[in-house]
Amino acid sequence: MADNANLTRTKLRDLDILDRAFPETDLDKFPDTPHDAFQSCKRCPDARILSLKRLDERGWHFTIQGDGPKAQQIAGNENVALTFYWPPVGRQIRLRGKATQLSEEECTRDFLEQPLNSRIAAVASKQSQVLESRGELLCCVANVKSAIAEGKHLAKLEWRVYVVTPSSVEFWQRSNDRLHQRLRFTAGSNSNAWVKELLWP
Ligand SMILES: Cc1cc2nc3c(=O)[nH]c(=O)nc-3n(C[C@H](O)[C@H](O)[C@H](O)COP(=O)(O)O)c2cc1C
Repeated sequence: MADNANLTRTKLRDLDILDRAFPETDLDKFPDTPHDAFQSCKRCPDARILSLKRLDERGWHFTIQGDGPKAQQIAGNENVALTFYWPPVGRQIRLRGKATQLSEEECTRDFLEQPLNSRIAAVASKQSQVLESRGELLCCVANVKSAIAEGKHLAKLEWRVYVVTPSSVEFWQRSNDRLHQRLRFTAGSNSNAWVKELLWP
């Protein structure tokens, strides 16, 4: 009996539950109340629809505002997941990977390529902050338009383009007989090598 107890104790002690990378924690930046501090530790996932900007050899690009919740969340955890779905062809694509901000130069170039209305809306907006009334927004838009009329240069310092470098990409194809097809690409240790595997539906 005593031997068994010792064995169990040794096994428990040897479990590698603490043998992994833990998040950096800056206690100076902790919220002022234990309630908020607890909430901030829960790291609840969030989700929203974003437009896919482009796809190149670096990965999948999207654009967000650098002073909003999305950028804050990525700053806290660069791991992201993307889901695409085309209902007419019954196809889903899921990605897991890391999001990295592109250079200031590329972000600025992307902003300048936007249609005028998009640039005005971006400059006028304090995205996701509480808006007192629709009038407040229209007033900010009018101010931006007046500034343009006076010849001011339209710049949005917080316009951010991110690229997601995937660690895995899965294609799912619906099939009428319900034997759906799934193909997963997993990044190998060499960045150009992908492990391709079929998955059960
Ligand atoms: C079709 C569609 C495309 C969207 N594209 C973007 C986008 O490219 N960038 C963006 O910041 N928000 C986009 N949004 C709005 C976001 O889903 C989200 O509501 C907004 O960015 C605020 O999110 P947050 O408060 O979680 O940061 C899009 C919404 C829809 C429905």
